Amino acid sequence: MANDPHLRVSHVTKRFGGVTAVDDVSFDVPKGAFATLLGPSGCGKTTTLRMIAGFYDPDAGDIEIGNRRVNDLPVHRRGTAMVFQDYALFPHMNVRDNVAYGLRVAHVSASERARRVKETLAFVGLDGLDDRWPNQLSGGQQQRVAVARALVIEPQVLLLDEPLSNLDAKLREQLRVEMRTLQRRLGMTFVYVTHDQEEALSLSDWIAVMNAGKVEQAGAPWEIYYHPRTAFLADFVGAVNLVPAMVAEIDDGAVTVIFGSHRASVRRPADVALARGQDVRLCVRPESFTIAPASSSGPGGIALAGSIVRRAFLGDTMRYWVKVDDREWIVDQPDPGAAAALDGAVALFLQPDRVHVIAG
Ligand SMILES: Nc1ncnc2c1ncn2[C@@H]1O[C@H](COP(=O)(O)OP(=O)(O)O)[C@@H](O)[C@H]1O
Ligand SMILES: [Mg+2]
Repeated sequence: MANDPHLRVSHVTKRFGGVTAVDDVSFDVPKGAFATLLGPSGCGKTTTLRMIAGFYDPDAGDIEIGNRRVNDLPVHRRGTAMVFQDYALFPHMNVRDNVAYGLRVAHVSASERARRVKETLAFVGLDGLDDRWPNQLSGGQQQRVAVARALVIEPQVLLLDEPLSNLDAKLREQLRVEMRTLQRRLGMTFVYVTHDQEEALSLSDWIAVMNAGKVEQAGAPWEIYYHPRTAFLADFVGAVNLVPAMVAEIDDGAVTVIFGSHRASVRRPADVALARGQDVRLCVRPESFTIAPASSSGPGGIALAGSIVRRAFLGDTMRYWVKVDDREWIVDQPDPGAAAALDGAVALFLQPDRVHVIAG
């Protein structure tokens, strides 16, 4: 029982006319997890969330919450609440009435309503704004009202559709932290939707990356970032070097690959069938390198000689484009203020365990 998922989506499909918006999607979310559906615009995230909430009926498949099939239950009986991308606050109601709405619909008594609204507003940091109208609130405050309105009905599963996407970068980062803290404090199961990979990586216990209606890969953020199964995934979750290579040898835990004029023995990925002579791609994150002036003795590992094509100062990192053989590699150097920027010929060092092999 303890290991049963809190939310189970099994083989769910949704079509709109000729478009298959969600195509045989399955995943499980454990109780109390911060789960995120990540993917580019149009990949089916909102449609999936709306089917969980009960706003859309799936054409096929089942949705279970707490071991109960909810396909045929109306929205208000599923134990879910949804925070919409545009917040969908009622413009003609003040903050108090916006938040109280779900309780009024559920015929909660006036005194109980008042108590829960007050508590929830305090909980999301909106104390004292009860009488404001939505158009008198900042974007961040509106977002909090939308969250309060969902939380006040005490859902088992909170569904959030890109709740931070209308806010500016600084506020988004701040509310990201708040969102995570809130979820931890409540111990509530969250299903969060975003197209922003940084947001997904920083918030989630578990991420499902969607593409064209399907889940391409699901797992812990670390796993998705460092061990993507496809080139699409590698590229979608951050800057990456995807380097064509060939499998030369396969051992138990290692695989020897040849790329350009180089040969290296790297970790053999689990659950991926590889054969000698197979074309693969090496996935290397820019921050996995050490970069140094040419002919420095670096930290060992795979050593590549190259020359800097251009660089960009990003504040917390210096990004270099380094030509090695006939390819440009993206290389990030942390804390650029600590050393003079490099130019010309350089040496790159890469530990073999920072190289991930993608089949195909
Ligand atoms: N109500 C609808 N009617 C017709 N097509 C829709 C509808 N909702 C979504 N779609 C289509 O389904 C696909 C997935 O949409 P959506 O779930 O909104 O994606 P996302 O939230 O990932 O951006 C898109 O091709 C979109 O145009
Ligand atoms: Mg959407």
